[in-house]
Amino acid sequence: MSKRIRKAVFPVAGLGTRFLPATKAVPKEMMTVVDRPALQYVVDEAKAAGIEHFIFVTGRGKEVIENHFDMAFELESTLAARNKKEALELLKAERPGAGTTSFTRQQEPLGLGHAVWCARDIVGDEPFAVLLPDMLMKHHTPCLKSMVEAYATTGGNILSLEECDPSMTHQYGVVATGKTISEDVFEVTGMVEKPKPSEAPSNLFISGRYILQPKIFELLANQEKGAGGEIQLTDSMLRLAKEDPFYGVRFRGTTYDTGTKLGFLQANVAYALDRKDIHADIAGELSAIIAKG
Ligand code: G1P
Repeated sequence: MSKRIRKAVFPVAGLGTRFLPATKAVPKEMMTVVDRPALQYVVDEAKAAGIEHFIFVTGRGKEVIENHFDMAFELESTLAARNKKEALELLKAERPGAGTTSFTRQQEPLGLGHAVWCARDIVGDEPFAVLLPDMLMKHHTPCLKSMVEAYATTGGNILSLEECDPSMTHQYGVVATGKTISEDVFEVTGMVEKPKPSEAPSNLFISGRYILQPKIFELLANQEKGAGGEIQLTDSMLRLAKEDPFYGVRFRGTTYDTGTKLGFLQANVAYALDRKDIHADIAGELSAIIAKG
């Protein structure tokens, strides 16, 4: 039987250069989507998939991430003294429990593969999930949950997949697929990081959620630089695929790439409209703004 997926790695060391000056002093993962940091949504997705330990690969200037997932003792005692029960409950519900978070640093920006490798000792010898925090994936069934469910049947390694416009393949890891296993689950027979449209095996791209076997760490340890001069996770996955199968789970929800200005604004609108407490106000205001031009 496949081992349970208990741990998740969140690579949060990126410099956020696409979002300057907003990200000069504030990590991009902490930028607010409605009233919560973008990263909180991704941690919640992991929790909903049964993840018990949250591993953050951070970097210099990212200390607020650790503070956010800690208990804010002074704040919580002040809220308790003022009888602000609702705010207290909110903080408690979103905080991972004591001892369930780990933080390590990626000392140099050498790429996603290197960031994941930095978590090797904390993950240890068990399969684990990786969630790219730029990608907010919205669906009634959280993406990682569907992948964990598929994994219980297939074992191996699992990638979240979505279709992109064929002209956009150079922005993503793109896969070739084989046999269909069940609805929305199929074999992955090839992968290539950031191919030109003419060299892409399909328009199915890896959209930011992974379940990987720990063997990947040995391969990452000696992975040569690939696309963009970076150590690419996709390149080591391709080597791992020679000995351990990969499957894709097609995500049927909507993904917002909050690393882009448009995606970030779209996420704010979509998540705000999804909230019962503010839906009517936001919908009304948006219509008014559009009507005014
Ligand atoms: C990374 C991965 C790529 C994946 C993408 C999803 O690229 O390397 O395979 O498709 O995330 O966002 P990056 O966005 O870091 O360039």
